[in-house]
Amino acid sequence: MNLAVIGSGGREHAICFKLKQSKGIKKIFCIPGNAGTSILVENISEDIGNFEGIYKIIKEKKIDMVIVGPEQPLVDGIVDYLSERKIKVIGPDKFASQLEGSKAFMKNLCKENNIPTANYGIFNEFNAALDFIQKNGTPIVVKADGLAAGKGVTVCQTIEKAKNKTKEILDGKFKSSKKVVLEEFLEGEELSYFAIVDHKSYLYFGSAQDHKRVGEGDTGPNTGGMGAYSPTNMLTKELEEKIKKKIIEPTLMAMKKLGHPYKGFLYAGLMIKKGEPYLIEYNIRMGDPECQVLMMRLESDLLDIMESTVKNNLNNKKIKWSNDSCMTVVLCSKGYPGNYIKNSEIENLDKINLNKNFQIFHAGTYKNNSKIFSNGGRVLNITSLAKNLKKAREESLSNLNKIKWKDGFFRKDIGWRVIDKNENN
Ligand code: AMP
Ligand code: GLY
Repeated sequence: MNLAVIGSGGREHAICFKLKQSKGIKKIFCIPGNAGTSILVENISEDIGNFEGIYKIIKEKKIDMVIVGPEQPLVDGIVDYLSERKIKVIGPDKFASQLEGSKAFMKNLCKENNIPTANYGIFNEFNAALDFIQKNGTPIVVKADGLAAGKGVTVCQTIEKAKNKTKEILDGKFKSSKKVVLEEFLEGEELSYFAIVDHKSYLYFGSAQDHKRVGEGDTGPNTGGMGAYSPTNMLTKELEEKIKKKIIEPTLMAMKKLGHPYKGFLYAGLMIKKGEPYLIEYNIRMGDPECQVLMMRLESDLLDIMESTVKNNLNNKKIKWSNDSCMTVVLCSKGYPGNYIKNSEIENLDKINLNKNFQIFHAGTYKNNSKIFSNGGRVLNITSLAKNLKKAREESLSNLNKIKWKDGFFRKDIGWRVIDKNENN
């Protein structure tokens, strides 16, 4: 069969890498892909917002199944569009995609179904929002309702900042929505929990820890993710049971009742406070860079999992994971997450040996005359699988030193909260 992966980041490169190990695939296409995917599979250039264009490619190339990487086309209804045309596609429909596409939708769903989450208010109007801010006090979390490319959330330590951020959102800073969601600040440790879901059941699809802040020691502005590792030792059996019973299962049940049963990857961003999970956000897709570490640890056949999802057959499956630890360190372009340098050549990548325990997943790269150039903020994911996290990090950092790129930077401390606490991690 022929498969297409939609997207151009490290997540999509990692998915292509894993699919390449599956026996039953004739050809894989990545739409539009990057320099890394072009080595593994066939890239096809197309705007991922142009569903008609994508459908044409699917027909022309005789593609049997589509895996959608990023949230924007899902929120815009690509699954509805392709399903209506009888194309098999992995991802939730437009309605269910509101779990990520609208924080107001997600928070109301939690309230109606007793799913633990931070207390909140949703506002269209400044005075009512101000009232909430003053009553709640600080710290308070100000969120744009709609998609905001990771830039819509601010943890505010002062009333002044909360007022300014609220005003910006109400004034239309983000095109996706003018509503503002104000939330109680939850103290605790964050955990990313993944599931693969079909219309009848779901399976755990790994846990990981991302590092959102740009600077070492988790300082500076938020980014899309500077590095991740998996598994996380926070996820005990007891905690996992609570996550399933209190968060995942009531959500899936609610979506069924609303007439839009969920299908695809589901990523729960959780805060763990005194052993109890609280839902911070849902993402309707795999995380990036979490996907990169999970694809390295996945031992089961990804094509088989995807086919079982389409056939609502996941309840007959078991997913096998490597016991080893995996870490990815993201190499970024200087200036990120602000304005960053583009079109800068990255040298020596061809001097690094890739193998089943070490991969470089590309994100913002392109190839020109067999040279690799940057064109994004997050550029490469240096990913190592090893006996423990410390070894995985050493491997990633030592390979990073071989890459010649004057315009790049990365965090040397991914995993610091666990590695530095426990040398055996
Ligand atoms: P979100 O896009 O909703 O995941 O928010 C981005 C980041 O903001 C999260 O990963 C948390 O670090 C932080 N955050 C969001 N909501 C809260 C909250 N209610 N309490 C504490 N931190 C939060
Ligand atoms: N790594 C965070 C995300 O994918 O949203």
